[in-house]
Amino acid sequence: ATVYVPRDSAARSVGADEVAAALQHAATRGDFAIEVVRNGSRGMLWLEPMIEVVTPQGRVGYGPVAPEDVDGLLAAGLLDGAEHPLRLGLVDELPWLARQTRVTFARVGVTDPLSPQDYVEHGGLKGLRAALDMAPADVVAAVTESGLRGRGGAGFPAGIKWKTVLDCADELKFVCCNADEGDSGTFADRMVMEGDPFLLIEGMTIAAHAVGASEGYVYIRSEYPDAIATMREAIELARQQGWLGQGILGSPLDFDLHVRVGAGAYICGEETSMLESLEGKRGMVRAKPPIPAIEGLFGKPTVVNNVLTLTTVPVVLADGPKAYQDLGVGRSRGTQVFQLGGNIARGGIVETAFGITLRELIEEYGGGTRTGRPVRTVQVGGPLGAYLPESQFDLPMDYEAFAEAGAMLGHGGVVVFDDTVDMAAQARFAMEFCAEESCGKCTPCRVGAVRGVEVIDKIVAGTHRDENLALLEDLCDLMTDGSLCAMGGLTPMPVRSALAHFPDDFLGGRRLLD
Ligand code: NAI
Ligand code: SF4
Repeated sequence: ATVYVPRDSAARSVGADEVAAALQHAATRGDFAIEVVRNGSRGMLWLEPMIEVVTPQGRVGYGPVAPEDVDGLLAAGLLDGAEHPLRLGLVDELPWLARQTRVTFARVGVTDPLSPQDYVEHGGLKGLRAALDMAPADVVAAVTESGLRGRGGAGFPAGIKWKTVLDCADELKFVCCNADEGDSGTFADRMVMEGDPFLLIEGMTIAAHAVGASEGYVYIRSEYPDAIATMREAIELARQQGWLGQGILGSPLDFDLHVRVGAGAYICGEETSMLESLEGKRGMVRAKPPIPAIEGLFGKPTVVNNVLTLTTVPVVLADGPKAYQDLGVGRSRGTQVFQLGGNIARGGIVETAFGITLRELIEEYGGGTRTGRPVRTVQVGGPLGAYLPESQFDLPMDYEAFAEAGAMLGHGGVVVFDDTVDMAAQARFAMEFCAEESCGKCTPCRVGAVRGVEVIDKIVAGTHRDENLALLEDLCDLMTDGSLCAMGGLTPMPVRSALAHFPDDFLGGRRLLD
């Protein structure tokens, strides 16, 4: 029987390689006929390593499996999907997965990420083939019509960005994928690159056809060695298949892709810093305008999109813009890949249409905190996102609803904290993080963040508290209005939300817990 064991780095970090080796060992001994296939992760991270055995009824999951469980599982009839305390049931019917709407992540965990055959058998290349039959402007129009917005965090309409690049007359244009994924609590970019790398290649190739680009770069953070290796291997395989290079799939399109690795700076996830870094320079923010769509990499028109944006494009083209546009609420169309992390019982990937509430995500999917204590706050949208109190848990996950509440959806990271969290320490951490990661180009951020840490310390110590609270407000205004990029501009968001919703934490001393 075929047994799937994830090769995703989250699964590997808890022993998936050892489980695969134990299964392989049993097969080599000749005791069992097993074909081990390494898949991506289904995103139910608390069950990793989760293995799946192919049975006539479907794929049956077992997890979390330790290497020492393997012999017992095999003896109990693993290969027939038999009963066992670790048996989870048919994977597709597990409620956590069955309730999701997997569009971007449809293939992640299902296929062997580096099998071109598997990719095509599961609907791969459909979007690219459809796009190559269309004129570039029509591809751009389809993406616009789908309502797809930039999934890096800002939510700018992808089609409008592409149109700006298409309308530039330059002969040389680029497509750059931002895979720097620096936000704390986010891992969707990594999981799709490790679990379905051809999808990103397909999305970038469609973008190249749509805007007239001939070269692309995937900028991946150095902290993602598995994603880097997987993308490199997938690009090589794609070249061999004629999915990259000259005359892609028999069309006139010439396009090739390269992986570039970051060096650990959060600011290189900001698009203009990323371009500087790609050009071999220090990652410093460029002033906008000009926007990268007009003057980007090496001064040429450049599409810069996040991994999730580009990996959604093939589905939009394959199924038509309407199918995607039908999902979601308000101006937030389609699905978002939420990432549940922090102090949570069931962390992982939840892809679902926009409009689901935060409460459903953290309670129904997440199962509350891992410690079993009450949830006190949730930070949504990375280290620059707001801390939301329980009274806001019914907010729908929707770009506009979040903005109205003084928060942001960002890249879809949801980090849960229990009632032992010290919100003054979290606010201080936001300023500290900014001081650490600032590129130093503008004063409100470079100096403001350092002063921010000092002022918060004074408030907590009770030194001229009222004056320092007013000073902190003033500093937050200055950073919001005067910073050149989102790093300094958004740092006040977590600080302000902590102050607004949890003022008692700033009174000094330890909070008394039940
Ligand atoms: P932005 O609003 O300045 O720009 C959004 C995008 O639209 C950019 O690519 C910009 O070049 C493009 N754009 C703007 N006007 C355009 C036009 N007329 N034509 C074509 N393109 C146009 O936001 P920014 O600074 O790029 O991103 C800020 C966001 O980044 C934050 O909201 C935050 O959520 C997110 N973020 C994400 C992180 C991650 O790890 N994914 C880390 C840190 C922040
Ligand atoms: Fe650099 Fe901070 Fe200014 Fe952004 S806000 S340009 S990170 S100094």
